[in-house]
Amino acid sequence: MDRSDSISLFMMPSHKPIRVLFVCLGNICRSPSAEIIFKHLVSRQNLSSQIISDSAGIIEYHRGSSPDARMLTALKNYGYTDPGLKARPVTFRDLSDFDYIIPMDYQNLRDLSDMDSRGRYTEKFLPMCNFTESFTDTEVPDPYYGGTDGFNHVVELLEETCANLLEFIKSKHSLS
Ligand code: 4NP
Repeated sequence: MDRSDSISLFMMPSHKPIRVLFVCLGNICRSPSAEIIFKHLVSRQNLSSQIISDSAGIIEYHRGSSPDARMLTALKNYGYTDPGLKARPVTFRDLSDFDYIIPMDYQNLRDLSDMDSRGRYTEKFLPMCNFTESFTDTEVPDPYYGGTDGFNHVVELLEETCANLLEFIKSKHSLS
């Protein structure tokens, strides 16, 4: 490599993508929905190479499962399709790998904080409902043991919170 090579390498933009992880209890209802809706918004704004997202669950139980069929029906009714997501549990490595970690409820936040026993990643934890304006929810309610309305409500709440989260990230990182 001669000097001109090293100069051109130096001048190449080297922006690492911003990484966002959505977290709920099982990773089959709320957090995969957040991932699907958020990815849709990111793609519509041509930001898919700059902002990447994933989702995970606090519990291991549903590892490898597709999102809950009732959740997929609600998502479909609002125009979203599942790209084939499979549930996985959150790992300690996720805490360092992701830039933003978005728990759906306060129990998820407490569980993440327990994993982060030394408090190194506290600033990454941003509860999803911090990003609502027009809903009174302080948490994304768990729809698992309820009816259809609960699943539809999750989609509507996530549409607003994901849009506001994306605007927050864009403004923090000067993306347009
Ligand atoms: P999620 O919903 O946390 O939004 O994926 C749940 C999924 C499974 C269970 C609870 C909540 N469960 O008890 O198995």
